[in-house]
Amino acid sequence: AKGALPGQMGVSGYLGKGLVNSFHKGDPSTGTLTSPEITVSRKHLNFLIGGGNHPGKTCINLLVGGKIVRTASGPNDSPGGSESLDWRTWDVSEFEGKAVVIQIVDDEKGGWGHINVDHIVQSDRKKAAAIATRDIAVTTRYLHLPVKNGGPKRRVQFEVDGKTVREFEIELADGKADFLAFSDVSAFAGKTIHVSALLPNESKALDAIAASDDLPAKGDLYQEKLRPRFHFTSRRGWLNDPNGLVFDGTDWHLYYQHNPFGFEWGNMHWGHAVSTDLVHWKELGIGLYPKSLSDMAFSGSAVLDKANTSGVGTNESPPLALAYTSTGRGECIAFSTDKGRTWTEYEKNPVVKHAGRDPKLVWHAPTKRWVMAVYDEEGGKRRIAFHTSPDLKTWTYRSTIDDFFECPDLFEAPVDGDAKDTRWILYAADGKYLVGTFDGEKFTKESGKHTLWHGNFYAAQTYDNAPSGRRVQIGWASGVIFTGMPFNQQMSVPVELTLKKTADGVRMFAEPVKELDRLHGKMMALSATTEGTETKTIDLDADAMDVHFRFEPGKADAGFIRVRDFEIKFDLKKKTLACGKLVVPLPLTEGSVKLRILVDRGSVEVFVDGGATAISVAHIASEKSRSVVAGGDGAKISLVVYSMKSSWK
Ligand code: FRU
Repeated sequence: AKGALPGQMGVSGYLGKGLVNSFHKGDPSTGTLTSPEITVSRKHLNFLIGGGNHPGKTCINLLVGGKIVRTASGPNDSPGGSESLDWRTWDVSEFEGKAVVIQIVDDEKGGWGHINVDHIVQSDRKKAAAIATRDIAVTTRYLHLPVKNGGPKRRVQFEVDGKTVREFEIELADGKADFLAFSDVSAFAGKTIHVSALLPNESKALDAIAASDDLPAKGDLYQEKLRPRFHFTSRRGWLNDPNGLVFDGTDWHLYYQHNPFGFEWGNMHWGHAVSTDLVHWKELGIGLYPKSLSDMAFSGSAVLDKANTSGVGTNESPPLALAYTSTGRGECIAFSTDKGRTWTEYEKNPVVKHAGRDPKLVWHAPTKRWVMAVYDEEGGKRRIAFHTSPDLKTWTYRSTIDDFFECPDLFEAPVDGDAKDTRWILYAADGKYLVGTFDGEKFTKESGKHTLWHGNFYAAQTYDNAPSGRRVQIGWASGVIFTGMPFNQQMSVPVELTLKKTADGVRMFAEPVKELDRLHGKMMALSATTEGTETKTIDLDADAMDVHFRFEPGKADAGFIRVRDFEIKFDLKKKTLACGKLVVPLPLTEGSVKLRILVDRGSVEVFVDGGATAISVAHIASEKSRSVVAGGDGAKISLVVYSMKSSWK
């Protein structure tokens, strides 16, 4: 094969132009490839291998006199594996001078029922992995680590004074890198880091780790071709869920699920950024490090412990607290007395031990207690459990509510701004929410689940302690893959949530926070009535825009707006709006279509009819498409379009 076969993930790690790949027509195909006789004339037989880990079924064998004397199979036996090949070495010195035969076998039809092999070479030198080490005296703030996307994952350890201080997996490049990841090692200034990793023999990968006081490719940072202008992305690596959203009186904190060492999910850390206006972000060092590869820092939340219930701070200077899932221990609490810059774990962690994750903390004023809403799957059910605590340290289980999966959020909000008429909202990762009441122990819904967000929007949470009673939400605008960039995935824009009475009952609305207007650049507007297939265009020549669109139908029963190359069509008879493959209900207050559309380099967000419906679509528009076009026979079209400046310096 010349690489991956149809239907296969990207295959990497082979040399030259081809390899043996038994994914022909997928996993179900089987067969055996047999070599002619070869005379053993070196100590070792080196080869590259990838694919399924089914010993004896997906394997390479060495035969002497028809008998198998050596065998090896691929590395993968469960979903989430990778199609990369890596070196294996057999010591064949005992067969020196003998005739042998090599067989490549695929006798497995199920998952990972294929084998990949390449570059079978006799040699006196071993290629297979051995522990490689390097001692680096810490004289700079950062170490840069070269990453080759899709390359074999190496387990790297940093040891200082005989203790493992960092442990992570990284596709460490052994040659040309796709990007440089970095690790802040300032905590070990003046000491020596003993770096170790299992690497192929003679690998130069550790030599490529470089010390620097600057971030990698510093001059290019935030200037990269696909770097979103006004959506949060990490300097380097992967991000998913927003975590620990809290306003501390000065800063809006955005912690997030983060792999600093790879383009894909892994090594879950809490990344950290702060903003004073929800628009301009400053990335700080890692918020929470995973304890080890088997004890990662999964999602959670943060609060300001205003009344110092924990006793960790003072009444004048109350601490921040966070709850997160330590995958090795359970739900854990940590405190910060320096505005979220450093965190100290509560010494009796974990505070809740169960099958579950993603604790969300909220203060319940009437009972003067903290509540932890946490995803719970004890007994195989998918639900949210509620625990309470007077001091964030000792927790008591109270109740559960069924049919929710991952990343809960729970909060109280006024209806139509009336502080005397409030509801509690409960939602989880998919954003579908319940409206109801919460007495501090148990949630009582007043109707079924409702949908506000559609499309690429997951694991959202709202800010604790936002000023003026605002309810600000950020979600993971999942799905956009920033191919070729040193970062991957983005957050949604921050939105303000409100509750409003509608004809159907109390519903949640979402609109971009008003601070976003600070990024407005050039503006163009038009208002006109179209005829036939005539269209109206605004061309600001921008790749990021804030579009305010109103469509008064007249005799038209359909219309469209195209923002860059992304088309949104609406059908006024069916009352539906189509965003690419996504079709959502179209509310029509006053009979007209009102859309606010935010387009950036990786996404399109649409807020329909004052935020009654919100949509997030992962989309990288073609570079040339930079205008806004709308049409609808006989309709009156009003457009106000702003180009959006970058949030980044
Ligand atoms: C949701 C999620 C959480 C978990 C985290 C791990 O996207 O699976 O449940 O805590 O991501 O990164």
